Amino acid sequence: MLKSNKKLLSLILLTTLIINVNNLWAQQSKIALEGNQLLNYETQVDSLLRLMTLEEKVKMIHASSSFTSGGVKRLGIPELVMSDGPHGVRMEHGRDWNFDDTTEDSATYLPTGITLASTWNKKLGFEYGTVLGSEAANRNKDIILGPGVNIIRTPLNGRNFEYLSEDPFLSGKMAAGYIKGVQSQGVATCVKHYDANNQETLRGKINAVVSETALQEIYLPAFRYAVEEGNVYTIMTAYNKVNGEYCSNNEYLFKVLHEQFGFKGASVSDWGAVHSTLPTLKHGVDIEMGTELSSGTRQNPNYNNFFLADPVIKLVKKHPEYEKYVDEKVKRILRVMYAVHLFDGKRPKGSRNTDAHHKTALKVAEEGIVLLKNDNILPLNKDIKTIAVIGDNATAKHAGQGGSSQVKALYEITPLEAVKKQFGTKVNILYARGYEPNKEGKGSEKLTKEALEVAKKADLVIYIGGWLHNLPDAMWGKYRYDSEGRDKQSYEFPFEQSKLMNKLSAIKPMITIIFGGSFGQYDKWIDDSKAILFVGYPGMEGGTAIAEILAGSVNPSGKLTFSIAKKLNDYPAHHIGEFPGNKKDVVYKDEIFTGYRYFDNEKSGLLYPFGFGLSYTTFKYGEIKTDKKKYSTNEIVKLNVSVTNTGNFDGADVIQIYIRRKNTNSAKPIKALKGFEKVYLKKGETKTVTFQLDKDAFMSWNKISKNWVTEPGDYYVIVARSANEIIKKIKITIK
Ligand code: BGC
Repeated sequence: MLKSNKKLLSLILLTTLIINVNNLWAQQSKIALEGNQLLNYETQVDSLLRLMTLEEKVKMIHASSSFTSGGVKRLGIPELVMSDGPHGVRMEHGRDWNFDDTTEDSATYLPTGITLASTWNKKLGFEYGTVLGSEAANRNKDIILGPGVNIIRTPLNGRNFEYLSEDPFLSGKMAAGYIKGVQSQGVATCVKHYDANNQETLRGKINAVVSETALQEIYLPAFRYAVEEGNVYTIMTAYNKVNGEYCSNNEYLFKVLHEQFGFKGASVSDWGAVHSTLPTLKHGVDIEMGTELSSGTRQNPNYNNFFLADPVIKLVKKHPEYEKYVDEKVKRILRVMYAVHLFDGKRPKGSRNTDAHHKTALKVAEEGIVLLKNDNILPLNKDIKTIAVIGDNATAKHAGQGGSSQVKALYEITPLEAVKKQFGTKVNILYARGYEPNKEGKGSEKLTKEALEVAKKADLVIYIGGWLHNLPDAMWGKYRYDSEGRDKQSYEFPFEQSKLMNKLSAIKPMITIIFGGSFGQYDKWIDDSKAILFVGYPGMEGGTAIAEILAGSVNPSGKLTFSIAKKLNDYPAHHIGEFPGNKKDVVYKDEIFTGYRYFDNEKSGLLYPFGFGLSYTTFKYGEIKTDKKKYSTNEIVKLNVSVTNTGNFDGADVIQIYIRRKNTNSAKPIKALKGFEKVYLKKGETKTVTFQLDKDAFMSWNKISKNWVTEPGDYYVIVARSANEIIKKIKITIK
């Protein structure tokens, strides 16, 4: 056994593997394309449409219950059944929010968007989507309301945990994989929230004032990738206004969606986000969803009063020329219905809570956890006798909270359980809560004292804290963190955790594990901690993944998808932009300078850069070269990057490709991410990855000609390991 292993190892050491990343991706695309049938049924769609009366058509363009839009019984057109959410099929909420507790509606609780994106593994995005799609099919859902791809503009946004990144390319590529995965199961995805829904404060009426350049370069591309690469079937418009018009009837946004992106599927409003009849009919959403706004109560809505219900019938009767707008909407909806097999019954049955699904949840957590600091303490030494686990997140469960993305997890392994399982028999594990979530956000003297006493008895402290979702007893109340409907009120970790962490890290070696949709304010414990892990919300197997990383059976490979600054005012949205605005408008003065695009110019406030994450092994980059030095505008730039695992653990690194225009003006970013690939390397192994950078990589928005152009000139192709760690810069010319 030993002998053959050695043989294998020497073979690996000798072989240089060549991977063409685009081939891998093409294989996935092929699988996914089989699920993309949006335009395959135009004849049937047109004939069905011709059979429908105006009243029947109008039934289809608004809600018929809390999570369905109308069908037409006479013609055998069923309702469209939707469900949240981005990281697991939501529990049942009944037709009109009348809960039905008798249904068995547990689901796989996957890591949330921020943890998925931290894997930087496109293939895993696809697997994640496949699990979600299969479970949705099994629960008879036609549309999954996710992924959420809004840009992480400020750490305070209550929904960052659902979103993916501060960078549109990373968000778009990870979303495309997810979408293909879901749709390969015959279920539609609904990419949300279109657009510029970057805060929850006053989300129902705030007007995001954003320049066209910032929209095109930062806030729209993730949706573009979702459409062009993911072939997403549906899209959800946001609650807010963009440049003066509600997103659900925003002429500019719909022009971009339909004409620039070529979207052929259906758009759905966020719940209660429609505000008008004629504008929405002409250049707005295809389906008005929600229950409360237009009429009645949440439990007893009158769907006929919706903006896209009786008022449309009245309007069209008066202006028959408007019927074409209704037809266009119904056509888009019917395309989706055909694509998700509502008429041919060919959707796979799907499955739920299988071991394979739970394994995917685990894999995403293992790859999505980011090691930010390690002073030679991790993986943990096997001789440790006593560990003090401290912090409420060591035992907290997160699946059921956070707003509409709640999931009834079949189970959720907490970090404390998993640490006990991993080290329990050989190591003495003590636990103290340290702080207790409470409405005032206060720390507790009693719990602090207890935690310090427990810490004193141990060789080291594993602190497990950070953010949580809304407080358990105040689901829709005022006291929310990392939850829909409200932004965080402070960048300080709640319940005076920094004070507690400062005290603990001063007396014992401390490993700090931070949960949340963002990091928090810099304090002394960051310097004093021996190791720091950022885990986002790692799903039902999150505890297991944390324990494996602590023990070293899994080598961390997650990379930050957002920049971490020391204090709130160091973030561009707060330093040069506006947040949360003046109750009416929020002006995006930070323009295109979100995240690293800002910190590239302004490094002083930066704590951890975008794309950063440590490993237990070391990587050495070898030959990096492009196939040529001069290209014409439409030519593909081929780039070979070779990397070797030079350390003592098998592990993975993420090769990040940024493009920089050599002589750029100050309104443009210093560099922008245009390629990435996660490479898995055994000890001693070398791989060469080929990137093919197409014209998309070199284009930018020209605000005068109002289109995407490649400006001829010199560019740098930058190979990096984070926004701050550049391995090599190659100059090329585009003529
Ligand atoms: C959220 C959406 C969600 C919808 C349905 C809204 O409040 O913003 O993300 O999909 O509710 O639950």
